[in-house]
Amino acid sequence: MLREVTATRYITPLREGGSLPGLVEADDLGTYVMKFAGAGQGRKTLVAEVVCGGLARRLGLRMPRLVVLDLDPVLGLGEPDHEVQELLRSSGGANLGMDFLSGALGFDPLAFPVSPEEAGRIVWFDALVNNVDRSWRNPNLLMWRGELWLIDHGATMIWHHNWPGAQASAARPYDASEHALAAFRPDVEAAAAQLAPLVTEDLLAEVTAEIPDIWLADEPGFDTPDDLRRTYARPLLARSAVVHERINGIEGAER
Ligand SMILES: Nc1ncnc2c1ncn2[C@@H]1O[C@H](COP(=O)(O)OP(=O)(O)OP(=O)(O)O)[C@@H](O)[C@H]1O
Ligand SMILES: [Mg+2]
Repeated sequence: MLREVTATRYITPLREGGSLPGLVEADDLGTYVMKFAGAGQGRKTLVAEVVCGGLARRLGLRMPRLVVLDLDPVLGLGEPDHEVQELLRSSGGANLGMDFLSGALGFDPLAFPVSPEEAGRIVWFDALVNNVDRSWRNPNLLMWRGELWLIDHGATMIWHHNWPGAQASAARPYDASEHALAAFRPDVEAAAAQLAPLVTEDLLAEVTAEIPDIWLADEPGFDTPDDLRRTYARPLLARSAVVHERINGIEGAER
């Protein structure tokens, strides 16, 4: 399980985020970016954050630590902004928290060079989870203390919106032509050699064990949260072995 903390103060909305994530303080005195269970995108977005965030960290990619943030909707009562108040009111219980990287800058491909090795690892990872939200328009990469950090994995694993087609969908190619790091000559072969062997059944069981039961409950066609956890792991395991051969659109690579 992820560590659980309780939100004690809503600080401010992060206006750039499409889902209106908020900045909150918790009872461990940490400051977190909070993604709301009551947001329009729904709890599958939060599941995707937990699975991909946990996987990224275990593959050695830089990714802020995640927690489960318990929210008492009473925190919303004093909010002047109606939209924020509504979000807080509809998000009582378990929400997702991510360590806030204070002072981080949005990634700018013209200002920060990235090595082909690092670009390769990130593109390979994004291909594995089918991340459609790391384009040059919206990189979802932060520069913090001189290093590149991954955030925002809500728009990944499209197959979890249609389980009967999941295995087939997971076999599809990944178009990296708009990827924020496509121009850095990502070495996806080296990344595959290094990372694919790490994506094992055991590792995926560890990763999916971190999804709170409550975000998995009542999924049509699944008897228990653990059945659904295993179903999340399957396409990732299958895809990890072959995905580097299915990445299209990388600059300089002959494909
Ligand atoms: N851990 C973090 N530390 C510092 N800043 C963060 C962190 N997470 C998010 N942010 C800031 O908040 C913004 C919105 O976060 P995020 O991209 O996760 O939200 P979102 O609603 O899913 O966004 P979108 O769908 O628009 O990409 C980021 O672009 C970044 O500027
Ligand atoms: Mg984002």
